[in-house]
Amino acid sequence: MKNVLVTGGAGFIGSALIRGLLEEPGVERIVALDNLLTGHERNLAEVNNRIEFHNADIRDLAALEHLFTDIDVVFHQAAIPSVPRSIDDPQLTHEVNINGTFNVLLAAQRRKVSRVVYAASSSAYGDTVVLPKIETLVPRPKSPYAVQKLVGEYYARTFLDNYGLATVCLRYFNVFGPRQDPASPYSGVIALFCTAALAQRAPTIFGDGEQTRDFTYVDNIVQLNLLAARSPTAPGNVYNGGVGARITLNELWSKLQELEGLDLPPRYQPGRAGDVRDSQADLGAARRDLNYDPRIDLTEGLRRTLAWYRASA
Ligand SMILES: NC(=O)c1ccc[n+]([C@@H]2O[C@H](COP(=O)([O-])OP(=O)(O)OC[C@H]3O[C@@H](n4cnc5c(N)ncnc54)[C@H](O)[C@@H]3O)[C@@H](O)[C@H]2O)c1
Repeated sequence: MKNVLVTGGAGFIGSALIRGLLEEPGVERIVALDNLLTGHERNLAEVNNRIEFHNADIRDLAALEHLFTDIDVVFHQAAIPSVPRSIDDPQLTHEVNINGTFNVLLAAQRRKVSRVVYAASSSAYGDTVVLPKIETLVPRPKSPYAVQKLVGEYYARTFLDNYGLATVCLRYFNVFGPRQDPASPYSGVIALFCTAALAQRAPTIFGDGEQTRDFTYVDNIVQLNLLAARSPTAPGNVYNGGVGARITLNELWSKLQELEGLDLPPRYQPGRAGDVRDSQADLGAARRDLNYDPRIDLTEGLRRTLAWYRASA
């Protein structure tokens, strides 16, 4: 793994992955591409003299083919990553999440990239009776976003079977940490809750707050990507990326209030279409095949995240 490229490199997870890759032995050249739709150049501010950044769109196949020249591993993070946004705008999210992912795979195959590691999503599972969710469950996507991310997995597998392109799919559960953008109504819940806590403002919870999530600090997901990029047996497989625990949104807000010394009841609004009720990752496959070991737990992750939002306010 000498030359690597991160799509969505100016986004929350992509920019954390780039920081991980900068520490990775053997990595010599890091290319980031992003069209800055939800990402920001500031996310790469203190590392941008050590990487190459290109303002490019994954819907532009020619640009991808050009940028993928001599690349060994592509980490495909670029997407419009939101369930409610995909319901509001199914066409745009389809074009980026499905057509864009197809282009990434096609360009990788044409440029003889050795491996593509794809950011898939736990939303593919939908509402399952079984918890924790294991990769062998039949997917039951509930939103355009969940379908789109799942189609990416199917394409990734198809490119391996038909063209020999090594692909690995990582189904991230709810990822949080520094640089997650809190500024949009489509933002991740921890970004919204942390910034609400720091502003001593009550957050909005959609539904009764008893829905559960496997909240995963971003460094765990970086570790998973680096392992998936190197493992000789990973190609062709789908792996969950979480911490293997779950808490309710009500418990999450209580925890943040405890950490910040607050007493502010949340505001409730009706539940949102497409939202999954419960989510928790089975990590058996990732631990067994990849030696994945998520070291940062929720409380430590929240401490680090709050500290980051506080410092960057
Ligand atoms: N954050 C989570 O909890 C989570 C969970 C499951 C899966 N994922 C997946 O992880 C990946 C990264 O998500 P994130 O949370 O960092 O979100 P993010 O919005 O911060 O990152 C996505 C990046 O993709 C870029 N992008 C969007 N459309 C593009 C296009 N057409 N061409 C080039 N770049 C484009 C955005 O500008 C942004 O920088 C996504 O693929 C998402 O589906 C995230």
